[in-house]
Amino acid sequence: MATLTLERLWAFYGLAPVLRGINLTISTGEIVTVLGRNGSGRSTLAKAIMGLVRTEGALTWAGISLANRQPFEVAQAGIGFVPETRDVFPDLTVEQNLQLGLPRHAIARGAHLAWGIADVFSLFPQLEKRLKTPAGVLSGGEQQMLSLARSTLGQPQLLIVDEPTEGLAPQLVMQVAQFLTAIKSQGVGVLLMEQKLQMALAISDRVSVMGGGTIVFDGTVEAFQRDPTLRSQWLEC
Ligand SMILES: Nc1ncnc2c1ncn2[C@@H]1O[C@H](COP(=O)(O)OP(=O)(O)OP(=O)(O)O)[C@@H](O)[C@H]1O
Ligand SMILES: [Mg+2]
Repeated sequence: MATLTLERLWAFYGLAPVLRGINLTISTGEIVTVLGRNGSGRSTLAKAIMGLVRTEGALTWAGISLANRQPFEVAQAGIGFVPETRDVFPDLTVEQNLQLGLPRHAIARGAHLAWGIADVFSLFPQLEKRLKTPAGVLSGGEQQMLSLARSTLGQPQLLIVDEPTEGLAPQLVMQVAQFLTAIKSQGVGVLLMEQKLQMALAISDRVSVMGGGTIVFDGTVEAFQRDPTLRSQWLEC
């Protein structure tokens, strides 16, 4: 088991702080959802972990500091990231996008891969039907699946997923939820930034609520549901 630990983590755009002392832990094999109003800093938190914004404070993964590392170093340490922009390569086919997700060095070494292309097809069968289609012409939902699948092929121990269900039809929201649950069951940790409360509560082990640049609640789904003031104070507009 490996754990990502954030202690008093600050993050800045220029000199302006957006995160003001975040404390959070997430381990492999669990789903933790970060909730918060628009603009509360959920995407900044994801970017701070990935080394995409400047931070102060402690950020450790399996006991090793990852603070202010380059994004590729964070990825090589076993942390995958699916940004809210669903960054697929539009001119490449679905198959080529997926192949780019595979870790070439590990394959060259003959290492066993936990996730192969057949595994992601069994979770997202639609992708297999679109194998030779350029990613740019896929629907938003298909692009989201492709982005999730490609990141999973990178064999992460922890996957950070920023608003994967935004704009998706209910059927696809359910498929994304099933996908995240499936990778968790294989031991991957999932740090989910999500607005869809019902879906998030259904699949999460714990939830954290962001407000004012800090974590204002961190606990089990049951504890979250016992306190309705959390929603009125920190989530509803
Ligand atoms: N590149 C940037 N430069 C300066 N400020 C930024 C930048 N990106 C975000 N911010 C500011 O940081 C704050 C948090 O933004 P962030 O995108 O992390 O929020 P969020 O919770 O993901 O919101 P949402 O996804 O609903 O837009 C906001 O006030 C936003 O305006
Ligand atoms: Mg965001």
